[in-house]
Amino acid sequence: MTIAGDKGTFKPTVYRDPASLANRFGDQLMDLIATSAKPVFHLAISGGSTPELLFSVLAGKYGGSPLWDRIVLWWVDERMVPPEDPESNFGKANRLLLSRAVIPGGNIRRIHGESNAAAEVIRYGNLIRSELTYTNGFPSFDLVLLGMGDDGHTASIFPGQTDLILSGEVCAESRHPVSGQRRITLTLKTINNASRVAFLVTGTGKAARMAEIASGSKSGHELPAGLVCPLSGDLSWHADEAAASQVL
Ligand code: 6PG
Repeated sequence: MTIAGDKGTFKPTVYRDPASLANRFGDQLMDLIATSAKPVFHLAISGGSTPELLFSVLAGKYGGSPLWDRIVLWWVDERMVPPEDPESNFGKANRLLLSRAVIPGGNIRRIHGESNAAAEVIRYGNLIRSELTYTNGFPSFDLVLLGMGDDGHTASIFPGQTDLILSGEVCAESRHPVSGQRRITLTLKTINNASRVAFLVTGTGKAARMAEIASGSKSGHELPAGLVCPLSGDLSWHADEAAASQVL
């Protein structure tokens, strides 16, 4: 399965290990952008540890690529901390990728974690609405890269956060259910309105939830990651053997 995905069936592309996934997916990502007819490619990236390898691959293999001139980089979610905070998703991407690639500063649309959350939701949402093309009457990212937590969360949409699952907004404020950490996240509606959504999932900690989602069970469909089903776009799952170990 490529990033183009395979509608209707849950068939993750399985890679031997995280490094293989990052290398192969990085090649697919840059090939997708290179062959895209869109003059500007709006890419939304997630935080967490899984993308770290991908960021390093992109910086190492494609750091000097002219493709970065066409890529506008957005964040799927952000922790409401300053960019220099170790928790910052932007800060991590900056260390591993942005500072090591020829990405024009004007192409970076970070969420201002240092700002007031309510005000930043409005600012970031308005920016998305003003810059993206629309599909189904709603802003549409060209590609959204997601991870999945051990609990089945994705972006900063955690199990049971019905408001974020049902929201008609572009983005919203969220809170981590354990730490209470304030976050801003794209809503499920925005994620499901993307042209393409790709999950990158690694580690044995994800295996149970992946299997739950793969089974098509009711509980699987109630997990935020299990609710990602693009309206008209493509969905693909990319996992290492550990994360896919319980998918039959
Ligand atoms: C975040 C991410 C989050 C992440 C998952 C998986 O801000 O933490 O957006 O949704 O993708 O928690 O994280 P790992 O890749 O570290 O497993």
